[in-house]
Amino acid sequence: MLVIGGLAAAMMAGVSAPAAAQGTLNLYCSVQVEWCQAVATNFQRDTGIRVNMTQKGSGETLAQIRAEAQNPKGDVWFGGTGDPHLIVAEEGLSEAYQSPRNKELQDWALKQYEAAKGRSVGVYSGAVGFGYNKELLGKKKIAAPACWADLVKPEYKGEIQVANPNSSGTAYVIIATLVQLMGEEKAFDYLKSLNANVNAYARSGTGPIKAVARGETGVSLSFMQDAATEVTAGFPVGYNAPCEGTGYEIGSVSIIKGGRNTDNAKKFVDWALSPEAQKIGYEVAKQYHMPSNKSAPLPPGGPDLTKMKLVNYDFNKYGQASERKRLLERWDREIGSLPR
Ligand code: G6P
Repeated sequence: MLVIGGLAAAMMAGVSAPAAAQGTLNLYCSVQVEWCQAVATNFQRDTGIRVNMTQKGSGETLAQIRAEAQNPKGDVWFGGTGDPHLIVAEEGLSEAYQSPRNKELQDWALKQYEAAKGRSVGVYSGAVGFGYNKELLGKKKIAAPACWADLVKPEYKGEIQVANPNSSGTAYVIIATLVQLMGEEKAFDYLKSLNANVNAYARSGTGPIKAVARGETGVSLSFMQDAATEVTAGFPVGYNAPCEGTGYEIGSVSIIKGGRNTDNAKKFVDWALSPEAQKIGYEVAKQYHMPSNKSAPLPPGGPDLTKMKLVNYDFNKYGQASERKRLLERWDREIGSLPR
């Protein structure tokens, strides 16, 4: 977890603090920390609102918002996979808000808004794929994985990393994707076979691709936009979309119900949905997500979801608290507890 005060964030980015204080915003942020910092700094500069930012994974932020339900400490939750945002909505922990920017958004972003009954909306999208270290696989003479079916082959034994779905929204999207691609029984058989090739379950969704970049593991299951970030940073990383098809996230923003600065949270949502704010991810932090505002450009060279074979991800189903709980308990029982 990283907590950073607005002023400190501004100073780190070399930006002077705004002249007139306009109140505060407590921001929970579930994208990569560089992007979270850029969001905090730029929103503060644009509005004069002081931002206190806390960065945590999607599952962890869901747990925090639930734990604070009687006394909410956050005002707004930016980023992270859409399913836990839907759960927060279902449990009445977020507040409905219709931004005037909604009319500028892609249909998939508004699907999240409808599923959440107005309590969340899509800010970006990204699809699941395989990241790999070209040098490491080359040295070991292992082919880059192209299909889900490849990952359970014996040559990948001990080579694969994925995150733990309890803390990571990325890993939950991966499980839900496999269930939708294969059916639940086959998906869990597959996860068991995969477990034999996994060397570690990371806490955060981006942990595995960072391990690939550093050469600590050959292959990761990751969002492809996170692999693209490592390529840009100069690491010998490649990535593939699974040949059988794949799942995707609708990264979202939600206003936390009962927060102390709800008016500022609404200003933040309007800001986060603007094309200017949606360019920040790529321009400042080299993040390759597909933006939800139709006027925000697709980051050049990044993964383009419109060209991929995607499952018809059922966000209503997999964004339900009971379904998430059931799948996570099954994963803990049948996979998480297995020896590796
Ligand atoms: C990264 C990705 C985001 C994703 C997030 C989920 O930051 O770039 O697209 O929403 O991970 O994080 P988690 O740790 O919950 O898997």
